[in-house]
Amino acid sequence: MANVLPVLWCTIHLCMLHNFGGNIEMYGVLDSISSGPIDARRSYNSTMVGVGMCMEGIEHNPVVYELMSEMAFRSQKVEVEDWLKSYSYRRYGQSNVEIQKAWAILYHTIYNCTDGIADHNKDYIVEFPDISPSSFSSQYSKRKIISHVRKHPRFLGEVSASLPQPHLWYSTEEAVKSLELFLKAGNGLSESLTYRYDLVDLTRQSLSKLANKVYLDAMDSYQKRDSSGLNFHTKKFLELIMDIETLLASDDNFLLGPWLETAKNLAMTEDERKQYEWNARTQVTMWYDDTKTEQSKLHDYANKFWSGLLKSYYHPRASKYFTRLSRSLQENRSFQLEEWRRDWISYCNEWQSGKELYPVKATGDALAISRSLFAKYFR
Ligand SMILES: *[C@@H]1O[C@H](CO)[C@@H](O)[C@H](O)[C@H]1NC(C)=O
Ligand SMILES: *[C@@H]1O[C@H](CO)[C@@H](O)[C@H](O)[C@H]1NC(C)=O
Ligand SMILES: *[C@@H]1O[C@H](CO)[C@@H](O)[C@H](O)[C@H]1NC(C)=O
Repeated sequence: MANVLPVLWCTIHLCMLHNFGGNIEMYGVLDSISSGPIDARRSYNSTMVGVGMCMEGIEHNPVVYELMSEMAFRSQKVEVEDWLKSYSYRRYGQSNVEIQKAWAILYHTIYNCTDGIADHNKDYIVEFPDISPSSFSSQYSKRKIISHVRKHPRFLGEVSASLPQPHLWYSTEEAVKSLELFLKAGNGLSESLTYRYDLVDLTRQSLSKLANKVYLDAMDSYQKRDSSGLNFHTKKFLELIMDIETLLASDDNFLLGPWLETAKNLAMTEDERKQYEWNARTQVTMWYDDTKTEQSKLHDYANKFWSGLLKSYYHPRASKYFTRLSRSLQENRSFQLEEWRRDWISYCNEWQSGKELYPVKATGDALAISRSLFAKYFR
């Protein structure tokens, strides 16, 4: 190569790989950010020249990025508890005791992920399991499986490989307490855009983790052949999707519309416009190596909790699945996974070439919506 590219060579001891696929999930380890760069710099023979971030997506978890960026200018470790107090003051423009308590909880829960798993959101709403419910065990038959596993260790790998497990590293009850404190602070802070963003995000996270449980309850009912239980949990799961849709619609940062409009606006010709919209829709849904009956291995890699996507994409997918599930109980025949896939994938491809418009501006009062959802699901 004649043109040699300039190479930036440095030894970076600490690099934050925080996000995959631009997924939207509250997640991080504030303690390691507040001390890692300092420890690395002071370590024996350190050749460290800087701190780096190499996430796949931005525009999520502002607290993580604020602290990480600040660390480049710090020579001492940061006391996170104190730092968060001034953070919430700077972020919302007011000092508020409830919010400080809320952030203290988040620090010990959502923002203290110490299980070593780099987060890639697999919540069931946004990455719906592509499996037949008869291929994995429910809580119902767990005991049987465990005794089987003792005798056949390989079996565990097979079982756990078939039911995807959304990442959960904290007490959801504690996170809901933090949400309650956020809501209490609402009267004073609701004018603040950053407060509303955080409120919507935390409400979304709490509801999404609840939906994971509801999904498992639905599978459990199915395996017990309990039709009315299945209908009850199905209805709740689908209702959660639509409620999260309404919640996200109330904040400009959680909308599908701007993503599609900015892609289209780059086009110079009508053909380009069509192509760019298709690209943008495909990027956030199923990457294009699917067949009629096989989803892409990377389906939902770049999933997004965005208003627009929940209603028009995630809801129909789950709905089609549960409808077939219920029918399989009624007709006393096994769940037809391949039929669902065929139906679902053709819907997906249609959606990807669609042209319908989605709002680019928020509607609804985030605080009022969040309050009513809290009362509906967590009281
Ligand atoms: C530290 O640096 C010195 C001088 O370059 C070198 O001799 C020594 O092996 C290094 N020690 C470690 C633990 O890397
Ligand atoms: C984070 O979790 C680890 C492991 O459970 C624990 O030792 C540590 O005290 C926690 N830190 C915070 C800030 O809660
Ligand atoms: C469902 O089908 C199985 C065999 O596939 C049969 O043993 C069972 O009796 C059937 N149940 C009903 C309610 O028809």
